[in-house]
Amino acid sequence: MKKTAVYPGSFDPITNGHIDIIERSLAVFDEVIIVVASSVRKNNFLTVEERVNLIRQVFKANKKIKVDSWGGLIMDYCKKVNANAVIRGLRAASDFEYEFMMAAMNKNINSKVETMFMMTGQDLFFISSTMIKELHHFGGDISPYVPKIVNQYVRRKDKSK
Ligand code: COA
Repeated sequence: MKKTAVYPGSFDPITNGHIDIIERSLAVFDEVIIVVASSVRKNNFLTVEERVNLIRQVFKANKKIKVDSWGGLIMDYCKKVNANAVIRGLRAASDFEYEFMMAAMNKNINSKVETMFMMTGQDLFFISSTMIKELHHFGGDISPYVPKIVNQYVRRKDKSK
């Protein structure tokens, strides 16, 4: 049976920390669907469409990765695509409480879908999308922390302003 995992998040923008989790999860799953949760509002930097397009470009050579957006419950999305698991990355102990509650709620909604936690790479644990947005806002260089495609897109967008 094909093993499909859903990796949900706001990905505003996707960072090297997310990429690390996605690439490692392919050792366990046949297919990973990255789902940009369009209902999450966190002082948006990129539109949902921009985020989906950028993530598609990052993984365009990888047939095992799909990218989508979703405005409802993640468990409903899992049901729609017949996913076995949700993947979440843990960076520090501070992530745990929120993730623990969310996994428990999701388990209550659909007990057939497991939440699998992966530790973020040791050299990437301090990255967050908010940190990237702040760095960029104050003119810092975001290129070490995001995929090349994302950095190029953001720079092009800045120039066109
Ligand atoms: N590397 C780097 N950064 C990481 C990371 C990693 N491996 N894993 C998480 N992060 C960062 C993100 O950049 C993000 O930073 P930010 O807060 O500065 O934006 C933060 O950790 C958490 O983001 P993310 O993993 O994208 O989760 P989220 O909190 O933005 O999204 C959803 C949470 C979308 C998964 C969740 O709200 C959801 O499923 N919503 C749909 C409704 C639903 O089903 N709710 C649950 C049941 S009620």
